[in-house]
Amino acid sequence: MSRPRIAQLLKEESALGEIEVAGWVRTKRDAKAFSFIEINDGSCLANIQVVADATIAGYTENVVPLKTGASVIVSGKMVESQGGGQRWEIHAERVELIGEADEDYPLQKKGHSMEFLRSIAHLRPRSNLFGAVFRVRSRMAYAVHQFFQDKGFIYVHTPIVTASDCEGAGEMFRVVTMDGETIRLGDEEFFDKPAYLTVSGQLEGETFASALSNIYTFGPTFRAENSHTSRHASEFWMIEPEMAFCDLGGDMDLAEEMVKYLVADVLEKCREDLEFFNRFVDKELLARLETVRDKPFERVTYTEAVRLLEASGEKFEYPVGYGENLQSEHERYLTERHFKCPTTVYDYPKEVKPFYMRKNDDGKTVAAMDVLVPGIGEIVGGSQREDRLDVLKANLKEHGLREEDYWWYLDLRRYGSVPHAGFGLGFERFLMFVTGVSNIRDVIPFPRTPGSADF
Ligand code: 4AD
Ligand code: MG
Repeated sequence: MSRPRIAQLLKEESALGEIEVAGWVRTKRDAKAFSFIEINDGSCLANIQVVADATIAGYTENVVPLKTGASVIVSGKMVESQGGGQRWEIHAERVELIGEADEDYPLQKKGHSMEFLRSIAHLRPRSNLFGAVFRVRSRMAYAVHQFFQDKGFIYVHTPIVTASDCEGAGEMFRVVTMDGETIRLGDEEFFDKPAYLTVSGQLEGETFASALSNIYTFGPTFRAENSHTSRHASEFWMIEPEMAFCDLGGDMDLAEEMVKYLVADVLEKCREDLEFFNRFVDKELLARLETVRDKPFERVTYTEAVRLLEASGEKFEYPVGYGENLQSEHERYLTERHFKCPTTVYDYPKEVKPFYMRKNDDGKTVAAMDVLVPGIGEIVGGSQREDRLDVLKANLKEHGLREEDYWWYLDLRRYGSVPHAGFGLGFERFLMFVTGVSNIRDVIPFPRTPGSADF
């Protein structure tokens, strides 16, 4: 007997005959002579409706005690549904109760707050919203690979444990071994030197771009910044392409192309889930995504962005002025109110950016770029890299970093150095953008944030 997933079954043009469906009970309604059971298997938002006559074998033992949350395997006939809604339903011949669910199953059919659902992160994938979020997450991860593989980029697995601080911001988790309660340091240090969880695969990515030309990494990254915002997580996933023989212009082009590609893909492949978000999470989602897919992004220098912010007449919480970092409120003003579309800001003052960015000829700015999107602010951060050995050494010094810690990174500038550029797209920030979900904790399966690493 075939056991189609519900997504597949609901798309069938004609009845498949005898089938089996396996899933979890969303609701059950009992009438005198039969029961209606709604079953979901996570393959799509929709449930399949099962009609179980009271006359079928095992009705009393298997159907009567069924509660929301229980797991079942139903076998029967696929028949055209009489009621509205969907095309097919199942007339059960047999209902097998696989795992009972207690009365206190927390996901009874009613609206739950996002905070409550976070406290049951092990069960929340069984809700409509989180099922949709994680189907979209899966599809987008696939589309990331498709985008780069189709362009001939090589996927590189950069290390998770590293000794270098890519962003130079010191916001890293230390990796140690323990002897009972004692942390082994100094001579006892496992890696013979301090090691950390990576904040970015970029530096290692650059070494591979200096050999394989166009590469990308896609993996978990870790930041020990004590940020309690809806856009910061301590563990998040980042997509980082790196291109040899490429300047900032090419870098901005790739970032824009990639965001548009992913948005077009989600609109095509996750329609049902997006329509759900559009109804229940963010009424402007679909319209916004269609605009992002169809219209070019704006591009503006940092200097011009500051001028626009100063001229805006807005009262911002943080100061605006040349040399100040752009805060989320400034980014959102630019992309939401001023340009009303994704906006790439480039050529930032060197003081607000890391050591590896290429110095521009004006001596004041670096070839950096951030892509800002409505509702979130920064989703991409990238740059052309400093490819001149002497300038890079001077940058390290200015940032208080030691040459010997970056000897291999400097070697890339000694042997066949090339102009190269890349960026990092925060995967969760991107998912917030395409789902309309407003908290980063709700687009990653098990969020890690300061004070919280449950499950
Ligand atoms: O701007 P960031 O710090 O850039 C880098 O790490 C570069 N090394 C990337 C590169 O050029 N290869 O981070 C890149 C992106 C941000 O734009 C943001 O989307 C995301 O990563 N990000 C975070 N997402 C969630 N939680 C955090 N704490 C994040 N920090 C950065
Ligand atoms: Mg950044």
